[in-house]
Amino acid sequence: MSGAFARCVRGFEALLDRAPDEAAILAEGRDLLADLIGCDDWLPQSHARPDPLHYRQYLLHRDTALRFSIVSFVWGPGQATPIHDHTVWGLVGVLRGAEVSERFAETEQGLHWLATDRLEVGDVDAVSPRIGDIHRVANAHRDRVSISIHVYGADIGAVERHVFDAAGHRKSFVSGYAEAPLLDLEHA
Ligand code: FE2
Repeated sequence: MSGAFARCVRGFEALLDRAPDEAAILAEGRDLLADLIGCDDWLPQSHARPDPLHYRQYLLHRDTALRFSIVSFVWGPGQATPIHDHTVWGLVGVLRGAEVSERFAETEQGLHWLATDRLEVGDVDAVSPRIGDIHRVANAHRDRVSISIHVYGADIGAVERHVFDAAGHRKSFVSGYAEAPLLDLEHA
């Protein structure tokens, strides 16, 4: 443990204490997350375990006022999310491996593909209803695990949001979290 995780949590607390607008949260939060994923000696093995069938989302920290949460996403080889939205701001930083993110916009004719981005270790991406909130994310590797660290502007596992099918039809979902203890900030 390097203290990097606790520093990141304290950084987001201080940032949100100032109650800036979302653009400032994403701009400054991007740097806080980039610092966290700039070293890879802090994520416990308990929160880095892949599942053979589905990607996993482990809760690492939940702000006591529920202003933000930090999760690890663990992708087995070739695993991907459905197309989904978030309904709150989010930052995605790659810790290990690489990810591919396909971005979409919702139109009256259904979902419209916008772009496909590849994120490597150290890259940080942002989502929100304001800047674009719909994407599908996949492990870029077919032969190894990738892990990304995400920060969201809510207790994301409890947020009611949406998945979309290929025709663009939306369905409500609440993601929850994979079973694992929260990180102890005194030792993280
Ligand atoms: Fe997402």
